[in-house]
Amino acid sequence: MNPRIQSQPTIFVIFGGTGDLNARKLAPALYHLFLDGWLPEQFAVIGTGRTALTDEAFRDKLREGLDQFSRSGRVQPERWRTFASHLFYQAADVADPSAYQGFGQRIKVLEQQWHAPATVVFYLAVAPNLFGVIANNIAQNGLTADADRVRIVIEKPFGHDLASARELNQQLCRLFEERQIYRIDHYLGKETVQNIMAFRFANALFEPLWNRNYIEHVQISVTEQLGVGDRSGYYEGAGALRDMIQNHLLQLLCLVAMEPPVNFNADEVRNRKVDVLRALRRFTPEAVRESAVRGQYGPGWIEGKQVPGYRQEEGVNPRSNTETFAAVKFFVDNWRWQDVPFYLRTGKRMHSSSSSITVQFKDVPHFIFPPQTAESWQQNRLIISIQPEMSIRLQVQAKRPGLDMMLNTVDMVFDYDGTYTSQAPEAYETLLLDTVLGDQTLFMRGDQVEAAWEVLMPILSSWQGRTSQSFPNYAADSWGPELAEALIARDGYHWFMRPLNGKK
Ligand code: BG6
Repeated sequence: MNPRIQSQPTIFVIFGGTGDLNARKLAPALYHLFLDGWLPEQFAVIGTGRTALTDEAFRDKLREGLDQFSRSGRVQPERWRTFASHLFYQAADVADPSAYQGFGQRIKVLEQQWHAPATVVFYLAVAPNLFGVIANNIAQNGLTADADRVRIVIEKPFGHDLASARELNQQLCRLFEERQIYRIDHYLGKETVQNIMAFRFANALFEPLWNRNYIEHVQISVTEQLGVGDRSGYYEGAGALRDMIQNHLLQLLCLVAMEPPVNFNADEVRNRKVDVLRALRRFTPEAVRESAVRGQYGPGWIEGKQVPGYRQEEGVNPRSNTETFAAVKFFVDNWRWQDVPFYLRTGKRMHSSSSSITVQFKDVPHFIFPPQTAESWQQNRLIISIQPEMSIRLQVQAKRPGLDMMLNTVDMVFDYDGTYTSQAPEAYETLLLDTVLGDQTLFMRGDQVEAAWEVLMPILSSWQGRTSQSFPNYAADSWGPELAEALIARDGYHWFMRPLNGKK
């Protein structure tokens, strides 16, 4: 039997059960785990929220979400009925400690029914100001007593800055053991992101080249076409640096830059990632000015539709200083990476949605061909496309067929669509299964989160302290502010576009 198929009864208690995350991501993920046989026969999902709902109404609500957002389309009615019989709802004011006796009671009844103790996953899909309150109430009501079986999952954002992240860590660590705490960064659950470790450490080919002797620079780019949508309440206080770079992009950087761990054990892997964060060069105020660029989108047109600027979005301050774009140049100060720049950029309302990592190798040491043979000369590049394209391309020079010697760039491609027929699971499927199995490899440890905040604090303080005079400084449907082009152009490079059928 596959060791990842769990047989111990499992209960998920989802705080924020009526919320968006549950409808769009968690419920569809649980449904697919169920369909594909990853969940034990004895499992239950208890959703909770303020609204009074019957179990039936809760099930209908989740079904609506699934029909709309599930990767496999509308639910299969037969399978849905069985799955839905495992879903329950309990209205509760999560700030009220007495509400938690109800959860305790439900868990006890289910365990009695199953004649076995259950793994209990408390999932906090709620606003961050409730993390501490809920964790405290769970613990005070004795629901965490068995550290081997009880886990707590914390959604992002984990803290607003270094001080608040530290405080939350301290609070959680007073109530739970670190092995019970699952801090989510959903990028780590993405199939293509998990594959970075496989690619680097299951192949002998790349590791000898994976260092400052052969790599010139690295670009990590996560662009989104969507604007802030209905999330201005959160986003106004966050901005691109907090929302994306502190977590998702720095985690990608860690996966590219980390040393090989001795094995695939969660702490061995996370130790090597934390080493990278600790080696990131600290930003002086002058370095912030030279190495970090912020932007905010103005109005524009996207695919024939007029879209508002950030300051015109609902709930946004018309003089908002919040950045919707950030580009930062990092250095990893260690033997492997000394002086190799890592350029990270992310933004909303950009020309297209695409996440990729490009590793640009150094040029050949000596060019033996006549100059006219190099029609489209390009240094070797390795492009790891995370989404929407899921592929790895190695761009090399080759001779174009013909009687003369002409070189051009060609791609050696591994793409998921062409290689595999099965659909890749969603990040949340992987992550939820890992919480059931007690595998923390793809979750953020407390020290990782703090190390990431620590390195960004000088940029955050500088941006918060100075109102941008140039906002809005990029139009919707563009590639971000000009200053971001200048940031990389100063070093003689340019941002690479996402690979379109192998073209630059
Ligand atoms: C979230 C951010 O963590 O990631 C959002 O809060 C962003 O602002 C999202 O849109 C991007 O995730 P994905 O999986 O769509 O790339």
